[in-house]
Amino acid sequence: MKNTLIAPSVLSADFANLQRDIEMINNSAADWFHIDIMDGVFVPNISFGMPILEAIARHAKKTIDVHLMIVNPDPYIKTFAALGANNLTVHYEACTHLHRSLQAIKAEGMKAGVAINPHTNVALLEDTIKDIDLVCLMSVNPGFGGQSFIENTYKKIVQLREIIVRNNADTLIEIDGGVSDKNALELVQKGADVLVAGNFVFKSGNPTQTIADLKNLTRI
Ligand code: DX5
Ligand code: ZN
Repeated sequence: MKNTLIAPSVLSADFANLQRDIEMINNSAADWFHIDIMDGVFVPNISFGMPILEAIARHAKKTIDVHLMIVNPDPYIKTFAALGANNLTVHYEACTHLHRSLQAIKAEGMKAGVAINPHTNVALLEDTIKDIDLVCLMSVNPGFGGQSFIENTYKKIVQLREIIVRNNADTLIEIDGGVSDKNALELVQKGADVLVAGNFVFKSGNPTQTIADLKNLTRI
């Protein structure tokens, strides 16, 4: 049986009750904390930075999966490692020397992730796939929670899985944006390993139960 990993996106948490929401994730069936860092340049929004990540890491008891939506992430890689990131994902579109960035992330002891925007073809990852621990397929245009899922993502999962198999890589496929009970099962059937969910979890009446439901319905 496949154990799909569920990664609630803290972007949709109540920042006035951040510790409460972190404890909720700690005590839920969730596997990872998904942390979205936005710079207002790479994406048209600014989320939060180092002090908030430091506060989250102080309470989080699960893998911290940091998704950087920032231009030129290289100067900050060491800092994110020191703050407690376990996975560090950079955007393909934001890295001039992606291979170098991946090596720098791994040198700090973190898993190296690459996120690609909805318009970016998965074929562009063919030459780096062996160096990538995690591909984050954006299923919305990055920048905001609560957007509608882009259906073309299903096709990209299948194409990416082919690249992973062809290269004998053990890369995880993570889906980020618009994930809900409407698409979770099909995403996993197509080949997703990790589902990020923000709005669907935090805007539900019972986030703990919603996480458990996502976990259960993706056991295939
Ligand atoms: C979007 C972020 C996502 C976002 C997902 O730029 O990368 O992680 O928080 O939120 P939902 O699940 O609400 O689409
Ligand atoms: Zn994200």
